Amino acid sequence: MKKIVIIGASSGIGQRIATDMARMGWRVGIAARREEPLKAIKEQFPANVAYSTIDVTAPDAAKRFLDLIELIDGMDVLLYCSGVGHMNPDLKEAIDVNTVEVNCAGMVRIVDAAYNYFKATANVDRGRIAVISSIAGTRGIGIAASYSASKRFQRTYLDALNQLAHQEHVNVGFTDIRPGFIDTPLLNGDTKFPMTMSLDQAAPLIEKAITRGRRVATIDSRWRIVDTLWRLIPGWAWRRIGLNPQQSTKTP
Ligand SMILES: NC(=O)c1ccc[n+]([C@@H]2O[C@H](COP(=O)([O-])OP(=O)(O)OC[C@H]3O[C@@H](n4cnc5c(N)ncnc54)[C@H](OP(=O)(O)O)[C@@H]3O)[C@@H](O)[C@H]2O)c1
Repeated sequence: MKKIVIIGASSGIGQRIATDMARMGWRVGIAARREEPLKAIKEQFPANVAYSTIDVTAPDAAKRFLDLIELIDGMDVLLYCSGVGHMNPDLKEAIDVNTVEVNCAGMVRIVDAAYNYFKATANVDRGRIAVISSIAGTRGIGIAASYSASKRFQRTYLDALNQLAHQEHVNVGFTDIRPGFIDTPLLNGDTKFPMTMSLDQAAPLIEKAITRGRRVATIDSRWRIVDTLWRLIPGWAWRRIGLNPQQSTKTP
């Protein structure tokens, strides 16, 4: 039986992938700060789900993550879903610092521990580390500076570890999942965003990217086109087309 640990499984994308994987017969270790939603998934799939409360910004996060791996008797895949995202044109320090702590430092704590786990276990089957980054990491977004930069950080970090794994002959692959807008609590029920996907649309694409071992997956094909167009815009023009903070409060 394949085993996946999902960090950030108490709502949104992580919660949906956790229930899907459990339904597909995987053993699933789930974590986040809120216990109630984790307990609810455990009650739905008592035989193949274990949970632990983990705050990825706390120094004991990596230790608690390794304990969770033991609870499900090993790990084939880590999926890091924990994340926060806010528009912050006023550059409120608490928002920006928290974004960096959860999306960057928190991810480093968990992903480093997963990398070292795969390095130490010498799995016959290839391990996999997957992170939900975002297309927001493609360019710096003025009204969501810390969010877009944190998503770029995640993408670059996976690139770096992919190279390190090759150098060190560690049997692990990396999947960088880059969605556009998905209707989750992260968007606060705000429906005015363009090309917003439902979880029914996005989750199967994310799951396929993980199980097929894709290196990078932009979710979905429409957002792949947007991503390509964004890359083509020269810096001087990108500077002038910034989103209007009055029109929107969230970012993918
Ligand atoms: N929804 C979108 O449009 C979209 C688009 C592109 C990328 N993404 C990315 O997808 C990921 C998941 O987002 P989502 O849309 O599913 O949002 P969500 O429903 O708000 O879920 C966020 C998850 O992160 C967890 N989390 C937040 N702070 C944490 C902390 N300190 N320690 C541990 N876990 C923490 C939350 O659990 P607790 O609060 O219980 O701790 C929750 O399970 C994020 O990285 C987001 O940036 C989302």
